[in-house]
Amino acid sequence: MEKAWWHSGVVYQIYPRSFKDSNGDGIGDIVGIIEKLAYLQDLGVSILWLTPIFDSPNDDNGYDVRDYGNILNDFGSMEDFEDLLRRAHGLGMRIILDMVINHTSDEHPWFIESRSSCDNPKRNYYIWRTGVKDSTPNNWGSFFSPSAWEFDEASEQYYLHLFSKKQPDLNWDNTAVQEEIFAMMRWWLDKGVDGFRLDVIDKIKKPIGLPDSTKPPTCSDGFVLDPGLYANNPGLLPLLEELQSQVFSDHGAVTIGECGSATPYEANAYASVDGTALSMIIHFELISKKSGWTVKDIRDIQLRWYENTWKKSWFGQYLSNHDQPRQVSIFGNETTFRIEAAKLLGTMIHTLPGIPFVYQGEEIGMTNTRFSRIEEFRDIRAKFKYSELIKGGATEEEAIAWLNRFSRDHARTPMQWDESMYAGFSTHVPWIKVNENYPEIHVKQQLADKKSVLNYYKALIKMRKEESILVYGDYEDISPKDGDVYSYLRIYQDTTWLILLNLSDQESPLDMNIRSLLNRSRSLLTNYEQSIQVCPPWYAGIYEVESNHID
Ligand code: GLC
Ligand code: CA
Repeated sequence: MEKAWWHSGVVYQIYPRSFKDSNGDGIGDIVGIIEKLAYLQDLGVSILWLTPIFDSPNDDNGYDVRDYGNILNDFGSMEDFEDLLRRAHGLGMRIILDMVINHTSDEHPWFIESRSSCDNPKRNYYIWRTGVKDSTPNNWGSFFSPSAWEFDEASEQYYLHLFSKKQPDLNWDNTAVQEEIFAMMRWWLDKGVDGFRLDVIDKIKKPIGLPDSTKPPTCSDGFVLDPGLYANNPGLLPLLEELQSQVFSDHGAVTIGECGSATPYEANAYASVDGTALSMIIHFELISKKSGWTVKDIRDIQLRWYENTWKKSWFGQYLSNHDQPRQVSIFGNETTFRIEAAKLLGTMIHTLPGIPFVYQGEEIGMTNTRFSRIEEFRDIRAKFKYSELIKGGATEEEAIAWLNRFSRDHARTPMQWDESMYAGFSTHVPWIKVNENYPEIHVKQQLADKKSVLNYYKALIKMRKEESILVYGDYEDISPKDGDVYSYLRIYQDTTWLILLNLSDQESPLDMNIRSLLNRSRSLLTNYEQSIQVCPPWYAGIYEVESNHID
């Protein structure tokens, strides 16, 4: 396997709308990111992934692109972006853009034309089917509305939208669409961007004949949201290979495919180490456990991915992104052991095989907030979920409680920079509420505190960059069969590291085998100060085993 610079890099995801507002309109922007580049360089991350910054009516916060060649006004200008690119490069960081090419906005000129008549040359840029009103072409459900079909009165046809009706799906069977998108992406690479995160890339090819889903209805009106059916369809792999050969390869672009339904089998095809398609994929198996997980679930997922993809393909390790509640609140402990749990989760992501991803605010242990009314939510999906829950008989209180656990808006509250008003994010009321815990949890305090989550993350990121064992070392799960202490080894050449993670609020005994290993180990990084005989709650430790001989 050939080595590449990004193997030892850490990806940092920025949600520009909530990162830093530079001009006091309550919305984060590109100049705000520039202001924080020194912070990011100090943190040590290598790749900045910006969620969409293109012109958009923001039905889904930028994941509905109106113009791929322009920057959203709220975020600034093309000059601002070029400035960001130059400065980031100057500081040794790369920038990748979030390319949304499964769909566009319904306000994109292509769709406006496509919609204008059945014989418009762009009609075929999207997926249109005849049908009569109230009888959709199939039973597909959408992520943001009951049906995935919208009836167009004028032409009496339906168009497909897996997401909102303002996000019509492009027709990737049409070579004209392929050419336009390829050219657009080349244009960004020529400008100097270092690669792309490819939004829902596993769904760009639809199943032949658009068959009904045979699964039971998932929403009130009988439609079935069936992501598995929408993904990994015939023709996808050849398209990814073409993207690589025609768009990415000349520029050595780093590409990250969002593949929600991918198994290791798809990872090996789409992100093979020979570099024939994408650089890496991100799968959803860990985060799909958010409504209830056990240590065994996490271990099983890691082992299955390791055994099936090691030295064959690359995937991202993450527990957070802009679509997920905050990881400390879901996989950790957001109260008594917040700091320990935040450090533990960071340790896990940085020491497992795969490329680590950090989502803004994770490095200071930001938590979910508390929303009290539906009006406080901003996300289109939260609004849809709320209406579905209410239709299904939930009380308002129950619906809000559900959202307080799972809403994507938790990840989108402003980055907490300091203790001043609006957490130092802006001088104006922000577009979405600030988490009320900002006076305690913010960057300024943590920069000054040696024992902070932030300083711990810096150490982790540095280690990941410098120590090949974390990147290329084999993995062996040595956890006791039951119990909460996830224990594994990384083994590279003649070095062995031991990682211990107590994923629970309880102190846990250490089994014999691990105690004997510990006795022969040197501690490299831990989230407790004292040396341990038992594993305290949320204990995380990285050790080097002094001799390679494992009993
Ligand atoms: C991806 C994005 C999500 C967006 C959706 C539609 O899953 O991460 O934020 O809503 O695609 O573009
Ligand atoms: Ca602004």
